[in-house]
Amino acid sequence: MNKLSLLLVGPRYSHSLGEIVRTSIAAGVVERTYIEDSRKIFQDDHENQIQRFSAGYSDFREIVLIKDSLEFLDVNKGNYRRIATVIGPAAENLFEFKYMENDLLVLGEERKGLDDKVIAACDTTLTIPQVVNKYKCYTLCSAVAMFLYEKMRQAYEGIPHSMQ
Ligand SMILES: C[S@@+](CC[C@H](N)C(=O)[O-])C[C@H]1O[C@@H](n2cnc3c(N)ncnc32)[C@H](O)[C@@H]1O
Repeated sequence: MNKLSLLLVGPRYSHSLGEIVRTSIAAGVVERTYIEDSRKIFQDDHENQIQRFSAGYSDFREIVLIKDSLEFLDVNKGNYRRIATVIGPAAENLFEFKYMENDLLVLGEERKGLDDKVIAACDTTLTIPQVVNKYKCYTLCSAVAMFLYEKMRQAYEGIPHSMQ
């Protein structure tokens, strides 16, 4: 089964990273999580905090720290379909989206989301529909959970649970 990868651009909170790590491992559909750690959340005891918030799920093998998201996206042009996750109707709707091999979901930080330059450096944009409060957004870890749920649904649909 082809898996997807995540690029987290400057996440702020180790608790949300812990939740993302746990969901990624449990869902079994994430190959690698790249993190531009511009806010240095991996310093001090943050690795322990991530371990705690993911309830011991993280062994950090799938996590790769990168320096600069724009450079990373440029270098990986052709290696990944680079998908900026954004809020709003201009982006492709997750309800109609078909995951492919070598997808990279690019996710913004918890307050400001993705920088325009990062969005422009991606191949496409993708949004999760919001029914209420359409000008606000989901939390980063809730958004990741929904993206991964849809990936699981497409990857495992029709396969009996015992065979997965
Ligand atoms: C808490 S949101 C911050 C959004 C920011 N205030 C904005 O307007 O772009 C953090 C990240 O979660 C993801 N996210 C949240 N809601 C989303 C949605 N409805 N569709 C796609 N991604 C979403 C995006 O990656 C976003 O950058």
